[in-house]
Amino acid sequence: MPALAPFRQPYYGTSVFRIGDQLAEIIAVGEAMQRALALLEGGDVVAIPTETVYGLAGDATNGVAVARIFEAKGRPRFNPLIAHVADLAMADRIALFDPLSSRLAAAFWPGPLTLVLPQRAENGIHPLVTAGLGTIALRMPRGFGGELIARLGRPLAAPSANSSGRISATTAQAVAADLGGRIRLVVDGGATPVGVESTIVKVEDGKLRLLRPGGIAAGEIEAVAGAKMLRGATGIEAPGMLASHYAPGASMRLNAERVGVDEALLAFGPSRAEGWRQAVALKNLSEVGDLREAAANLFSYMQALDRSGAASIAVEPVPFDGLGEAINDRLARAAAPRDKIA
Ligand code: TXA
Ligand code: MG
Repeated sequence: MPALAPFRQPYYGTSVFRIGDQLAEIIAVGEAMQRALALLEGGDVVAIPTETVYGLAGDATNGVAVARIFEAKGRPRFNPLIAHVADLAMADRIALFDPLSSRLAAAFWPGPLTLVLPQRAENGIHPLVTAGLGTIALRMPRGFGGELIARLGRPLAAPSANSSGRISATTAQAVAADLGGRIRLVVDGGATPVGVESTIVKVEDGKLRLLRPGGIAAGEIEAVAGAKMLRGATGIEAPGMLASHYAPGASMRLNAERVGVDEALLAFGPSRAEGWRQAVALKNLSEVGDLREAAANLFSYMQALDRSGAASIAVEPVPFDGLGEAINDRLARAAAPRDKIA
């Protein structure tokens, strides 16, 4: 990542972020609709807040817009993207819903659930969105994103708004610091409430498979489905799941019971790892041990500890229940060897 000037912005303010002679405007959600629409109509990309993480959005029916998403992220490969819809009617025009997927959509949309479904023929989605797959990942986001899609009248392809291999952005400032030189507009909706990406599931022969743990705990989905999910991706299913997809610059040491020399500490809960007082920087995902709070803080705290300059970040154990599954998944990717960056 290029060295950036110190970055300070009012939380919801409208402002300009400069890298060299390039500009990304940061506009508060309440004032951003017309500008965002104009850019999207023109085939450009816009970073938008969703309830999970910030997304880098482009018109999913416009190949140039979708290509710009990959270009801005510096993706080494064309991974399939999630198409975001405004309502069930839009989703129905794009994909074929089996009864279980319909039930899950009714229960969790709008919200942090992504369904992988067979595509309808001639659905207008540019093939670059799906990397030529016969299936498509669909999600209905809450808030500004949903309204933007409704006004545009077309679905938006939107991966997380971060450079390839980097931590997902949960604030407009983090987006601007990473992609500010490559995009024109970041819509500022404040810190994203969920903090980790959506849970991705797929129905196969009537059985539900978890492709990516995320912002809705697997158990909540299983409760609605009335059955346990299968785990683990099959074949190409989730190429974005590969290796160190969420890498900070510092190395990460998971389930740490003590803090080493020159290490930063990413803590969880009320009791501290041995030697915590010598940590060069410390952030606690949740003092009270609340997994929702921990998910919401995860990416911004990893970034903050990375900025402390520590060569290594020790991470206290985080339980696997509820959203702990998604948190542990992202931590494991962040700790994976860097030669495997996908
Ligand atoms: O919360 C989220 O899901 C965020 C916000 C912006 O909506 N988006 C997000 O997108 O995380 P992205 O592109 O970073 O992750 C998309 C994931 C990848 O792991 C990709 O491989 C998987 O979805 N995916 C997309 N289409 C798929 C398909 N047809 N079959 C299986 N996996 C698919
Ligand atoms: Mg991502």
